[in-house]
Amino acid sequence: MKLPNHIAIILDGNGRWAKNKGMPRSYGHIIGCDNLEKMCNIICEIGVRYLTVYAFSTENWKRSKEEIKILMNLFRKYLKRCEKSVKKNQMRVKIIGDPERLEPDIQRSICKLEDMSKDYDKMFFRIALNYGGRDEILRAVTRLVKDARQGKLPQGKISEEMLDSYLDTPGIPDPDLLIRTSGEQRLSNFMLWQLAYTEFYFTDVPWPAFDKKELDKAIEQYNERDRRYGDVKEEKSKEGGACL
Ligand code: IPE
Ligand code: IPE
Ligand code: MG
Repeated sequence: MKLPNHIAIILDGNGRWAKNKGMPRSYGHIIGCDNLEKMCNIICEIGVRYLTVYAFSTENWKRSKEEIKILMNLFRKYLKRCEKSVKKNQMRVKIIGDPERLEPDIQRSICKLEDMSKDYDKMFFRIALNYGGRDEILRAVTRLVKDARQGKLPQGKISEEMLDSYLDTPGIPDPDLLIRTSGEQRLSNFMLWQLAYTEFYFTDVPWPAFDKKELDKAIEQYNERDRRYGDVKEEKSKEGGACL
C-alpha cells in the first residue's frame, strides 16, 4: 500500500454531528478539536510526513459572533495542547493563512509553537487559520510585485516556482490526497494553487467521527487511483536542495 506523502483535510461537519446528538454546535467543535489531536498522532504514527488541516477559513468570519468566540477560545487551548504533540511526534508546526486578523495573544501562541517546533522534522503539520486560497494568492502577488518594484527579482518571466515561493507553503510538496468530511463536495477556498493535481476523497462521515478506520478507507481508495503528475513539485524541490 502506497502512503500519501502529504495529506490535506477539510475538517467539516462538527455542527451537524452535534445537532444529530441533540447537542449545541460548540460541543461538535470541542470533540472535533479532540479528534484533530488524536488523528494527527495517528497520521504521524503511520508515517505520513506532511499533514495540512483547514480549521478556520477567511469566510468563517461570517458566522455568528458567539460561534467565532467559541472557536477562537478552542484554538487558544489547542495551540497550547499542541506543544505536547510536537515533542511526542517530533513534528514541526506552522500556521498558514493571514494571522493579522487573529487576536494578539493567539498570534503570540502561534509564534511560540512555531519557534519551539522549528528543529523537528519527522512530520510537518500545518494548520490553516484565517486561511483562504484566494487571499493567499493575493498576499503572495502583493509581495511579489513589491519585490519586483524594488528590483529584487531576477529579470524575465515569473515562473511557477517563483510564485510558489511567495505562497504560505514554500518548499512543501503539494498534497497527494485531500479528504473532506461530512458530505460537502467543494473546496471552500482551500489551497487552490496547491491542489492542482491532488486526488480528492469525499466522505459523509462528519469530522468528529472520522477515525483510523475511515482514514484507512481513504488511503485504500487513494491506492486505487491512477495518479497524474502528483510528484512534480516534490521532485523539483529535492533538486533545489532543502525542502523547508
Ligand atoms: C467544521 O465544522 C469546523 C469549522 C469550519 C470551523 P462546521 O462548523 O462547518 O460544521 P457544519 O459543517 O456546520 O456541520
Ligand atoms: C470549510 O468548512 C472551512 C473549514 C473547514 C475551516 P465550512 O463549513 O466553513 O465550508 P462551507 O462554508 O460549508 O463551504
Ligand atoms: Mg461546515
